[in-house]
Amino acid sequence: MSSTVSVTRSDNIAVVTIDNPPVNALGYNLRKPLHDALGELRDDATAEAIVVTCAGRTFIAGADITEFGKPMQAPSLPDLIEMLESIKKPTVAAIHGTALGGGLELALGCHFRVADAGAKLGLPEVKLGLLPGAGGTQRLPRIVGPEKAVRMVVSGNPIGAAEAHADGLVDAVCSEDLVDNAVALAKEKVASGAALVQVRERDQKLVEARNDLAALDAVIADATKKARGLEAPLICAQSVRNAVTLPFEEGVAAEREFFIKLVTGEQSAAQRHLFFAERQAAKVDGVGKDVKPRPIRKVAVIGAGTMGGGIAMSFVNGGIPVTVLEMNQDALDRGFATISKNYDISVSRGSLSEEAKAKRLGLLSGVTSYDDLADADLIIEAVFEEMAVKKDVFGKLDAVAKPGAILASNTSYLDVDEIAASTKRPGDVVGTHFFSPANVMRLLEIVRGKQTSADVLATLLGIARVIRKVPVVVGVCHGFVGNRMLSARSAEAEDLLLEGALPQDVDKALTDFGFPMGQYAMADLAGLDIGWRTRKSLGTTAAIADSLCEEGRYGQKTGKGYYLYKDGSRKPEADPKVETLIEKVSAGRNLARREITAEEIIERTLYPMVNEGARILEEDIAARSSDIDIVWANGYGFPIGKGGPMFWADSVGLAKIVGRLEHWHSETGKDVYKPAKLLKDLAAAGKTFTAGA
Ligand code: 3HC
Ligand code: NAI
Repeated sequence: MSSTVSVTRSDNIAVVTIDNPPVNALGYNLRKPLHDALGELRDDATAEAIVVTCAGRTFIAGADITEFGKPMQAPSLPDLIEMLESIKKPTVAAIHGTALGGGLELALGCHFRVADAGAKLGLPEVKLGLLPGAGGTQRLPRIVGPEKAVRMVVSGNPIGAAEAHADGLVDAVCSEDLVDNAVALAKEKVASGAALVQVRERDQKLVEARNDLAALDAVIADATKKARGLEAPLICAQSVRNAVTLPFEEGVAAEREFFIKLVTGEQSAAQRHLFFAERQAAKVDGVGKDVKPRPIRKVAVIGAGTMGGGIAMSFVNGGIPVTVLEMNQDALDRGFATISKNYDISVSRGSLSEEAKAKRLGLLSGVTSYDDLADADLIIEAVFEEMAVKKDVFGKLDAVAKPGAILASNTSYLDVDEIAASTKRPGDVVGTHFFSPANVMRLLEIVRGKQTSADVLATLLGIARVIRKVPVVVGVCHGFVGNRMLSARSAEAEDLLLEGALPQDVDKALTDFGFPMGQYAMADLAGLDIGWRTRKSLGTTAAIADSLCEEGRYGQKTGKGYYLYKDGSRKPEADPKVETLIEKVSAGRNLARREITAEEIIERTLYPMVNEGARILEEDIAARSSDIDIVWANGYGFPIGKGGPMFWADSVGLAKIVGRLEHWHSETGKDVYKPAKLLKDLAAAGKTFTAGA
């Protein structure tokens, strides 16, 4: 007996209960007593079979991630599973909650698995930049088949109990009395006396795959096609393939080597940083566990445009009814038609059933009168980005919303405190900055106004989980965290082109860095005319962008912008006409064009962004540097293998960044390059953002 492992008896069956809150992770404090307990039971003739189960909210959720990167204390997880597998009496894992990573690997060391109907099973290690390192890539394909195993291991996504049952991964599913059912199965196996087969010995599905390796390779190619510079997905697939081509022992040995390579590498360190950063972001100053969230049963969205439609979809996808308000019926019809079309695309791709689509649409209703919003618990405004319009809307909401309703704005840049001041309840007002497409993008910047109540923040942090968003609480400033840093990244866009780079050079530097898209391809996608119109109204100019718009090159929507899009294609192609145009503008300014290296492009786009991040921290707009990393990894495609801009800056070295910023500041005199005090102080002290800010 230990604090994390206890053994009880149900007649002749030993029930081993693991209790290591919060998620029963397999740290040393669990591995050691579990190894000891299993060793004793293996040699104890009075125990005729063993059931392994967990207390608390979940079965084992994996290895203890906090131990990675430190010396491993024996027994290791593979040793533990080997000991379990060596037991020559029936062993049954009783699974509820999530059996993930090392948890599922341990369950695969048992002869049998019984799952609660709500259980989920998976090997998510790839999401931490790893591969399953305790036999998972060798045992899983022996049960579910290599093709399914490739899909599961490379995506890291878990499957539900019913699917696991259909695949043979679990032997029985029950909706109640999990442990009793597992004990009953154990008794049945004892009684039958049938020979016990270890998972490692099963090879029928491997033999089938061996006869058609080309089919497996095709699945691997498909599953890994979006790896985008990440090593782990490729190694995961290779390791599962080894299960087909190598004997078990050799496959396990190769898996071990792969694991050590990945766990000591930079990408996994970055992805583990993001794992903990995401959880850290949910912990907000002044919003303790004692703060009770408000109930959210009904949501209203004002505006059925690009963002309003996506936001409404996010909530109905999470099962929450939404009322959408528009200026007139036509605008409502247009918005609902887009929503319906988006669901149709999901249905045609097979990711959504007709039934689920109908259910989601059934949760949506459209109105044109503010009076119909009186029973909404949360109202999110997503109308035009103009302060006067926002104030008008919030004034109307103040008049009709019930007491305690949360009034939120999806503004990208505007002052949430000013919006709040147009109501008599500023404590209920908050920013909810979703990202486009709002039904897909995971980031949610929750903008905390000066007077926003703690329980409003607690409510939004909670509801974000329901609608599967990653929330980060940020303060009020122009553009909050994400867009403010994006502006810093784009500040040099024109100058890089004027001095000698072409759009494709800048974009290649950024995509080689790991961004899914470069900034000019992104600008073409968003439409160049929007910025053009804004510049005209402000009386500012951007020579190249303005010239493109004057020629009717608005981006993808007109088939050309910084790039050419032939025959309605979305694939950007370099356009010699753009090169000529850029050269002409350079010549007009007497600028001698020169070669601009990828290194310079990174320095002049990403270093200012890091600098702005430091200013954001100085001003307390973000509480910690890891919050900024979460914003950029989830909202702007910052490569997860680099851990977000601030974590990446740490790896580059803050002193180096300060040195290069100073260089560019002296060359250009631009404020974006003037090193922030925090950045300079950390660099001078030899510290990092992650450890020191
Ligand atoms: N190791 C260490 N800590 C863990 C952990 C793990 N595997 N999984 C979760 N935690 C911690 C979290 O950091 C959090 O700590 P905090 O309260 O101090 O912030 C706490 O447990 C609760 O976690 P969540 O807030 O995420 O709780 P949820 O209920 O929302 O989710 C979960 C539970 C689905 C289990 C989720 O925590 C999760 O996905 N965990 C990671 C699962 C995983 O990646 N497993 C594979 C690990 S690698 C491995 O097994 C390698 C092996 O192959 C050798
Ligand atoms: P949009 O122009 O696509 O949609 C705005 C909708 O609001 C229109 O359908 C319009 O009819 C409606 N509307 C305008 N005034 C209204 C009023 N008084 N009452 C009811 N409906 C009204 O705009 P989009 O892109 O959806 O932007 C909405 C908000 O979201 C803006 O504040 C924008 O800055 C912000 N945002 C936009 C992002 C984007 O990528 N488009 C990303 C994140 C935030």
